[in-house]
Amino acid sequence: MDWVSVLFLAFFQTAAPGPEQPIAYSHKTHLSMGMKCKDCHENKDPGEIMGIPMTAKCMTCHQSIKKDSPQIAKLAEFHAAKRNVPWQRIYQLPGYVFFSHRIHMEKGTECKTCHGEVAQRDKMFKEVGIAMGDCMECHRQNKVSNDCTYCHESRQ
Ligand code: HEC
Ligand code: HEC
Ligand code: HEC
Ligand code: HEC
Ligand code: HEC
Repeated sequence: MDWVSVLFLAFFQTAAPGPEQPIAYSHKTHLSMGMKCKDCHENKDPGEIMGIPMTAKCMTCHQSIKKDSPQIAKLAEFHAAKRNVPWQRIYQLPGYVFFSHRIHMEKGTECKTCHGEVAQRDKMFKEVGIAMGDCMECHRQNKVSNDCTYCHESRQ
């Protein structure tokens, strides 16, 4: 590789948006092998949370696949220590907001409406807003309530 490409790559790695993750997991790599969102994000009852997979899920493949990679060695260490990988969160609402994945999905909203082109991303960043105004915009368009107590506890 010539020095121009080296600088170019270095620039893009520092400029890549989103937090540094403890393991360089890529959605693009895994989804291009035909995996589905629900293989890892199970949306357990009651369905509010999608969930981030435990290391056991990853190890079903990485027990043998790419064992010699330093990234997989790190993954295996977390697994052996029975620790979850301390992933940096990308989309997180404050505790005082009600939100249910399942209800939104039952109405036919796709993941990409709220999270963008995840299947194309090597690294996650917040590419779609989840601020109050973003929620209200879609609710308004779909004639869904925007009463304060629809998303927040009433203050009585
Ligand atoms: C269905 C099997 C499967 C599962 C489950 C799986 N992976 Fe992978 N993963 C692969 C394969 C295959 C590759 C290699 C792709 C390539 O480089 O050709 C890979 C590559 C990787 C790499 C890049 C390794 C390197 O150094 O090139 C990382 C990091 C990784 N996976 C992390 C994870 C994590 C974290 C999980 C769990 C959330 C996970 N994987 C779950 C099959 C899987
Ligand atoms: C092989 C397992 C796997 C599959 C398949 C997978 N994900 Fe993930 N997902 C992860 C892991 C691990 C993280 C945490 C690391 C990260 O943010 O990159 C994550 C993080 C996310 C996050 C950020 C969560 C947050 O707030 O921190 C979103 C959004 C997401 N995934 C959406 C999707 C969508 C949409 C699909 C399908 C198109 C999908 N994922 C498929 C493993 C997976
Ligand atoms: C209507 C918008 C919307 C849709 C549709 C949506 N999400 Fe989310 N997602 C959010 C919001 C908002 C959060 C933050 C939730 C919180 O912190 O309580 C989030 C958080 C997440 C997280 C991390 C936290 C968690 O809930 O476990 C993952 C993973 C995730 N979404 C994956 C997905 C996947 C996969 C799909 C499609 C099957 C999807 N989302 C569809 C808005 C959405
Ligand atoms: C893409 C459009 C869309 C976006 C974006 C969206 N919503 Fe919704 N929301 C809906 C629809 C449609 C319903 C279903 C209304 C119904 O039950 O008929 C709904 C229902 C709800 C409900 C009622 C669910 C229940 O428990 O009964 C809450 C609370 C809610 N949304 C909060 C949010 C919050 C918070 C955000 C932003 C983080 C958000 N929504 C973003 C379309 C959206
Ligand atoms: C469709 C869902 C939804 C509705 C309806 C809604 N909110 Fe919110 N609200 C949110 C979300 C999501 C956040 C957190 C993200 C943010 O700060 O934008 C929030 C944050 C807030 C905050 C904290 C803002 C800050 O800057 O710290 C206040 C105060 C608030 N809402 C008041 C209201 C009032 C008053 C109403 C009624 C007029 C209302 N909300 C209606 C979703 C909603």
